[in-house]
Amino acid sequence: MTTPDLTGKTALITGSARGMGRVTALALAGMGARIIVVDWEGEEGTRTRDLLNARFGPHHADGRAAEFLYCDVSSMAEVRQLAATVQARYPALHILVNNAGITDPVRRLSVDGWEMHLATCHLGHFLLTHLLLDLLKASAPARIVNISSDAHKAGPGLDFDDINNEKIWKGAAFSNNASFAAYHRAKLCNVYFTQELAARLAGTGVTVNAVSPGYFVNTTIYRNLRGVFKWGSLLVFNVGTLLGLNTPEKGARTHIHMASSPEVAAVTGAYYAYCRPAEVSKQARDVEAQLRLWTFSERVTGLAGG
Ligand SMILES: NC(=O)c1ccc[n+]([C@@H]2O[C@H](COP(=O)([O-])OP(=O)(O)OC[C@H]3O[C@@H](n4cnc5c(N)ncnc54)[C@H](OP(=O)(O)O)[C@@H]3O)[C@@H](O)[C@H]2O)c1
Repeated sequence: MTTPDLTGKTALITGSARGMGRVTALALAGMGARIIVVDWEGEEGTRTRDLLNARFGPHHADGRAAEFLYCDVSSMAEVRQLAATVQARYPALHILVNNAGITDPVRRLSVDGWEMHLATCHLGHFLLTHLLLDLLKASAPARIVNISSDAHKAGPGLDFDDINNEKIWKGAAFSNNASFAAYHRAKLCNVYFTQELAARLAGTGVTVNAVSPGYFVNTTIYRNLRGVFKWGSLLVFNVGTLLGLNTPEKGARTHIHMASSPEVAAVTGAYYAYCRPAEVSKQARDVEAQLRLWTFSERVTGLAGG
């Protein structure tokens, strides 16, 4: 298959200082796109930007392939600032990859008081996408890629009476199980968001899809786990890597496919794994929960009154 040509296109990728976001940035820049690297890791983000500019800058008239914009996507104020900067500096945006994610066994709160899995993986990206929608629509054809996970299937679904993930920690200072549960919920939010947004974007030329990058992709996302889970995941990671199964390059293939391949230019509202359409969980097809999450997210991100 021929490599897509993204000359003249601009792509924003959250969490692209390292991991699969960084691999995606390198791939899209290699296809000619200008990249907006977004992360809360200033040093790594700058390093990724410099690498992109050194490698791909000469392909651009101004010698710049990338810019780094610092943003903690769990902070609604920082997301608003990020969107304002993008709108001011970029006349078009063709690809938005909502990739930043965490796993953390300690229950931490965002500056707005939302539990960090919810705030980072869902609320920040919900707000960012909305704030950039007019620019994406004006740049159509455009694509939004939400990085979810098969972890969205690994649990009972959202509990709207515990949307801020308090009960699952049961007051513990840290809990690997609570982290998995919060991650499951956040990744389910990504699928709900994708499906509802796709329906609302029908006819605009902007597509939105969700992605599962696979299992235990060897990045640092699991570094906060503790005890047997930490050693267990390190073992799985390293054995997988020895076998060449779970490198960030392999994990990011579906990110890159959905962001760039002409094959999926018209696909929207879908869930992809290993560059192929995949089934979502039964809970993910609950349209009532999908709409409830949407209404909640609009309200707490300040997109709707109240
Ligand atoms: N690795 C896997 O096995 C796997 C499997 C399924 C799905 N995924 C999903 O794939 C995506 C990428 O994961 P990855 O494994 O590549 O992770 P990663 O290597 O940890 O990269 C994620 C990047 O996002 C950054 N980030 C985290 N919270 C942020 C925030 N609030 N604001 C801005 N940046 C933030 C991280 O910084 P810090 O490192 O400082 O947190 C890191 O630079 C995530 O959405 C993840 O849930 C991963």
